[in-house]
Amino acid sequence: MKIFVDSANLNDIEEALERGFPAGITTNPTIISHEERGDFSERIEAIIALLRKYDAEVPLSVEVFSSSSAEMLRQAESFVAEHDYEPLYVKIPIGWHELAVIRELKRRNIKVNCTCCMSFTQALLAAQAGADFISLFYGRIRDYGVDPATVVRQVRTALDERGAASEIIVGSIREVDDITEAFAAGAHIVTVPPKFFREMASHEKTDEVVKQFLADFEAWIR
Ligand code: E4P
Repeated sequence: MKIFVDSANLNDIEEALERGFPAGITTNPTIISHEERGDFSERIEAIIALLRKYDAEVPLSVEVFSSSSAEMLRQAESFVAEHDYEPLYVKIPIGWHELAVIRELKRRNIKVNCTCCMSFTQALLAAQAGADFISLFYGRIRDYGVDPATVVRQVRTALDERGAASEIIVGSIREVDDITEAFAAGAHIVTVPPKFFREMASHEKTDEVVKQFLADFEAWIR
């Protein structure tokens, strides 16, 4: 079970790295668009520099921004060529034509995170095409009226039965409970937006007992 950071914000990524928990970083075109407008490649380089600053050369997913198969292949090759970063994963959205892109990228030894997966069948095809990561969108699956935990469980069962190397990343997290549920359902990884980090680390009963400990000790030490 691993937590990835679902963000391209340098401050948020650094705050997480200072606490040692990021096992990876995921971005997507919308996440990038939330940041100050600038050079895309420089933004990715800045994230890589941060990861190296904290000795955390963990998987970094960068998504293509085209619907053309030929352009996806070109962009994927350029990401790898531009960034000297071994654990760089190219995000390719699931789809009929995209499955051939995934297969070709794997033939070229390029790491792939097949993203935007919403169903068991999409995830299974992605795994059989050779995707290293399969990103299931928990919140959006629920929006569609399907229980996301069931989909995660089904995909994990299928991957385990096949002895597949693919790992499930659960994204599209809408609340902290989704994280717990996703891991319980069999997610290998949950990628979490920074807005949930503090909530993940806190609990009212923790605050209560720490306050009690300090008060009791203060009374004793006087
Ligand atoms: C993973 O990185 C996904 O791209 C991301 O979690 C999607 O989240 P959203 O469904 O809230 O856009």
